[in-house]
Amino acid sequence: MSRDLLSISHLNLSDIENIFSRASFFLQSKTVPPILENQTVTNLFFEMSTRTRFSFELAAKKLGANVLNFAADFSSMGKGETLYDTLKVLESMGVNAVVIRHKKENIWNDLIGKTKLSLINAGTGTKDHPSQGLLDAFTLKQYFGKLENLTVAIVGDVLHSRVAHSNIECLGKLGVQVLLSGPEYFLDHKEKLPSHVRIVSMAEATESADALMLLRIQKERHETNGNFENYLESFGLDEKRLQKMKPHAVIMHPGPFNRGVEIAENLVESPRSLIFKQVQNGVYVRMAILEWALS
Ligand code: CP
Repeated sequence: MSRDLLSISHLNLSDIENIFSRASFFLQSKTVPPILENQTVTNLFFEMSTRTRFSFELAAKKLGANVLNFAADFSSMGKGETLYDTLKVLESMGVNAVVIRHKKENIWNDLIGKTKLSLINAGTGTKDHPSQGLLDAFTLKQYFGKLENLTVAIVGDVLHSRVAHSNIECLGKLGVQVLLSGPEYFLDHKEKLPSHVRIVSMAEATESADALMLLRIQKERHETNGNFENYLESFGLDEKRLQKMKPHAVIMHPGPFNRGVEIAENLVESPRSLIFKQVQNGVYVRMAILEWALS
């Protein structure tokens, strides 16, 4: 039996705990059994990626799977073949799972249940990036030892951020309070917020969070060109703002980060930054996701 991972909303608490427990096991194991030997995973990325694509590739290889990397521009999709037909072709070749990144949200409607492939969402539209939501929550749990009653502030371009939306959903399931802050035009006031989420000022986000998660300004998803001069001073993390954070509070960023825009150059590698820990954990969490989906 194979499973799809399309959205955090499809996971229950026991799925999440199981993924975290297996990620911890993989993290601590010196040698990993080839759980996915003879299985093939294909990465289909229709948008740019470094972390997600390579960590899914590494994760699959560490579990003994074969990995195919699909180059959209050099595939027969350039000759008009649909994504559905591409998946049918991959299924016929014996591929077991496809990891898909796409700018559109609703690509799954034409794909769910139509092949034997396990479908794994590597980031679609502005709403779903489930593996990132899971690895961020895993990183927080690893650092603080527990998640219940933590407060995480997500700051910046929330409106266009699939990471923010998956984090809001994942952290809510795990008992974490979420604060949102940023320029008003990046906060979606039209959506009814879940009870664990509040929109707050930048000062409140900075001073009351246990973790401050900064977001990249997603210019490629904006309809108009904004002016982001002085963004660092207004909504980014600089030394002055760092001094106002709780002494134990940590810095997070899903990446890609733009030094000097949403985070000061030197704070990316601050001792209080979990940014590269998030990247490192991404491999183990994605190993757990592939195992959950395929075995
Ligand atoms: N966080 C994230 O999705 O990064 P990439 O775009 O590099 O995969």
